[in-house]
Amino acid sequence: MTTKRLTLTDPETGESFDLPVREPTVGPRVLDISQLYGQRGLLTYDPGYTSTASCESSITYIDGESGTLLYRGYPIEQLAKQSTFIEVAYLLLHGELPTQQQLEEFDHSIRTHTMINESLLRFFNGFHHNAHPMAMVAGVVASMAAFYHDSTDIHNPRDRDIFAYRIIAKIPTIAAAAYKHMRGQPFVYPQNKLDYCSNLLHMFFAVPSEEYEVDPVAAKALDLLFILHADHEQNCSTSTVRLAGSSGANPYAAIAAGISALWGPAHGGANEAVINMLEEIGTVDRIGEYIKRAKDKSDPFRLMGFGHRVYKSYDPRAAIIREMCHRVLERLGRKEDKPLFELALKLEEIALKDEYFIEKNLYPNVDFYSGIIYRALGIPKSMFTVMFAIARCVGWVSHWREMVVDPSTRIGRPRQLYVGPTRRDYRPISER
Ligand code: ACO
Repeated sequence: MTTKRLTLTDPETGESFDLPVREPTVGPRVLDISQLYGQRGLLTYDPGYTSTASCESSITYIDGESGTLLYRGYPIEQLAKQSTFIEVAYLLLHGELPTQQQLEEFDHSIRTHTMINESLLRFFNGFHHNAHPMAMVAGVVASMAAFYHDSTDIHNPRDRDIFAYRIIAKIPTIAAAAYKHMRGQPFVYPQNKLDYCSNLLHMFFAVPSEEYEVDPVAAKALDLLFILHADHEQNCSTSTVRLAGSSGANPYAAIAAGISALWGPAHGGANEAVINMLEEIGTVDRIGEYIKRAKDKSDPFRLMGFGHRVYKSYDPRAAIIREMCHRVLERLGRKEDKPLFELALKLEEIALKDEYFIEKNLYPNVDFYSGIIYRALGIPKSMFTVMFAIARCVGWVSHWREMVVDPSTRIGRPRQLYVGPTRRDYRPISER
C-alpha cells in the first residue's frame, strides 16, 4: 500500500519536503510528524493538543461534529440500551463483546476482588473528616502501589490482568470507604452476591443498625451512568494515565494521576460545579443574569456543563442522560430535586437559543445532567466526581494496557517553544 504524503515548504530555506499522512479506519487523517525534528530540526506547537493525535488507539471513537461515540465500534446508544457496565468493561478491556461464559467468568473475577487490605482501610482514619473524597480516593489508590509493587510486572500479561481486575473491583470499595469516613459511619464490607452497582450502593448506604435493600431502579440508573462515563478516548485524565504510565511507573500510581486530573472543574469536576451553579442561580428569573455573565469576557464565570473540546454538537451521552433524568426523578427523586431539574431544562432551553452559544457550538455535555441523577440517588455533591472516577477507571485501565503493549510507545516527553532569556552570566548578589 502506498503511503500518502503531504508536501510542506520551509520558508526559511525554500526547501520542500513531505511527511507521511496516516489513514485512520474512520475520522480525520493524521499527519505523521514523528520524524520532523530528527530530519528537519523543526518542532510543532499545539497548546492543549487541539490538533495532536498522541497515540494510535482502537478503543473509542468520537465524531464531535455529528455527536457520535463508539466503544470498540459499538454506538453508545446501543450499549446504553442493551448492555451492562460489566459487559462494557469487558468490551473496553478486551476489544470484543464477551460470550456468556466469558461474561460470567469476568463478572465472577470482579465480584471476588472487591475487598481491600485492612491496612489500606485504616489509611482513612488519617484523613480529616471533611477532606474532599477525591483527595482521599487519589491518595488511597496511589497507596495500592505500595501493596502491589513487587507483584506487578507491567510486561507480564497475567500481572496486567490481575492489576486490571483488582483496580476495577476495588475502586468502589475505596470510594465507599471515603464516603463513610466523611459521614462518620462505620465502613460496610462489599458483598460478592451483589452486582457491581448494587454492591456500591449497599456499601454507601447500608448501616449496621438496620436492613438495607438496594433499589433496583437506582442500581440500573447508576449502571447506565457508568456505561456513559466508561471511556472517552484521549481526554485529560486518560492522557495523564498514559503519560504517567509511559515512564513504566506502577499502574496504580498512574491511575491515581488520572484521578487527580479528573478532579478539575473543566473535566470531571464539572458535575459538582453544575449543581453548585444551579443552586446559586436558584430561580428561573435569574437565568438571564448568568447567561450574560457566561458571555462576558471579563468575567471568569462559564456555564458549567456546557461546551466540550471535541463535541461541537449535542453530546450523545447528554441526550441519553437527559431522558433518564425524567425517569429517575419520577421514581426516586425527592420533591426538592424537581425544581433543580426544571431549572436545568430552562437554562438549557435559553442557552441553546442564544446567539453566543449557537455561534460557538456550545451544547450541554454529559455532566450537565449527571449531577442531578446522582443527587436523586442520594449521593452528595462532593462524591459526584468520585462516581465518575469509578466508571472512567475502566477506560484508564484499557488505555494503559493498550499503551504498554504498543511497540511504538516511548516515554511521553513533549518539547516546548522556548521564549525565556538567552544565555546570560550570573551576577553576584551585591551587583544586582
Ligand atoms: N460557558 C461560556 N463560554 C464558553 C464555555 C462555557 N461553558 N465553554 C467554552 N466557552 C467559550 C470560550 O470562552 C471560548 O470563547 P472565545 O472563542 O471567545 O475565546 C470558546 O467558547 C471556545 O472555548 P474553549 O475554552 O477554547 O474550549 P476548550 O475546548 O478549550 O474547553 C471546556 C472545553 C473545558 C469543556 C469548556 O467548554 C468549559 O470550560 N466548559 C465548562 C466546564 C465543563 O462543563 N466541563 C466538562 C467537560 S465534559 C467532561 O470532562 C466529562
